Amino acid sequence: MTNLATITESPCSADVSWDGVDLPTLAQRVGTPCHVYSAASIRQRIGALQAALRGLDALVCYAAKANSNIAILQLMAQAGFGADIVSAGEMRRSLRAGIPAQRIVFSGVGKSAEEIVEALTAGIARFNVESEDELHLLQRLAAEQGVIAHAAVRVNPDVDALTHAKISTGKSENKFGVGIDEARRWFADSAQFTHVRLDGLHVHIGSQMLDLAPIRVALQRVADFWRELAAAGRAINSIDVGGGLGVCYRAGRDQPMVIEDYVAVVRGALAGFGGRILFEPGRWLVAEAGALLTRVIRVKQGRQRRFLVVDAAMTELLRPSLYDAWHEIVPVTRERRPSQVYDVVGPVCETGDTFAVERELPRCEAGDLLMIRTTGAYGASMASTYNSRPLVAEVLLDHGRYAIVRRRQTVEDMLAGEQPAREWEVT
Ligand code: LLP
Repeated sequence: MTNLATITESPCSADVSWDGVDLPTLAQRVGTPCHVYSAASIRQRIGALQAALRGLDALVCYAAKANSNIAILQLMAQAGFGADIVSAGEMRRSLRAGIPAQRIVFSGVGKSAEEIVEALTAGIARFNVESEDELHLLQRLAAEQGVIAHAAVRVNPDVDALTHAKISTGKSENKFGVGIDEARRWFADSAQFTHVRLDGLHVHIGSQMLDLAPIRVALQRVADFWRELAAAGRAINSIDVGGGLGVCYRAGRDQPMVIEDYVAVVRGALAGFGGRILFEPGRWLVAEAGALLTRVIRVKQGRQRRFLVVDAAMTELLRPSLYDAWHEIVPVTRERRPSQVYDVVGPVCETGDTFAVERELPRCEAGDLLMIRTTGAYGASMASTYNSRPLVAEVLLDHGRYAIVRRRQTVEDMLAGEQPAREWEVT
């Protein structure tokens, strides 16, 4: 039986049970494909982060985009964590999961007026403002409501996070945040923002970072700016250091940073800062706690390659198609079999619907159950219904029990809201 310790320490070991739940039985009952999450693994990461943060005035705002299932958000709420949101939808999920508005921060370059109003009405803790236009809009909407919005400037420190280009956010050519020169002007002009209390700094340079060096440089730039502002008599009450901590997708290749080392870098860079430090980890808390269960539909011998066609697709896990991401694939069986090389592909009509190329796996046949690992972050939350594939079930495992935390969508659920053009209107 795989316990929590073995699953986190050796994410590539094959086994048939997880968090005390027998996976073949679960797959029989719930069907495949389905996402499974180990509550014990998530609690372990929460505990490790809390231990590393001891002694700091810190608030963890879990990046809801990593996995926004309400049951996952509830685990964060139970730990006293807040949420980092990027849409009104994520705010509603977080509130529904029991995360208080006072622990919610709102990031993103495209917050709409409607979303800002909804967040002001809910009374969220802070807006991470990413453009001057947004700052003026926030001022206007807060003034209309007669409230004061708390805001942080998202600083773009122009640092290369040394990660995949599509998830790198801290270079000056990226759409995120503003340069320190612009931020400096905002503070100088802040008297005109009568309904925005601009007293925070925010930085987030990228995701799946395995190297501490770029984080150190980015935080140093932010810390220098905070000291400059403080010297000019500008109180900064919070510094949000973002998320971005990488995880191990491929044993022996990915070497994630140790959480204590990461926090030590934050402590070092922000030494002497008297305000609150916000953290926005997403992936690190949930990625390794999730797996995608899928069944082999058939083995297809092509002219040049042998394909393992499985019932999961890019609709359930987009990362390999979008970022060429590597995910471990293991058969859920105790049987020992000789190995075989496959391209593991889904049923979607795109060549990019490929989970693995030339992967050596134990020989498989139709009906075999496989587990695609490390899918707890940016798996279900990036799902789509492309090719008219209904959204799949999500299951939370917890010490020998399981609960369906998202029921499988039916085709009827998927079609709800669509209709033939019967009633026409003109503008
Ligand atoms: N804070 C902000 C402002 C963010 O934009 C993000 C992620 C996070 C925190 C959380 O980052 P994390 O700790 O999870 O690395 N879909 C991609 C990842 C996109 C990340 C977007 N922003 C993937 O599957 O790799």
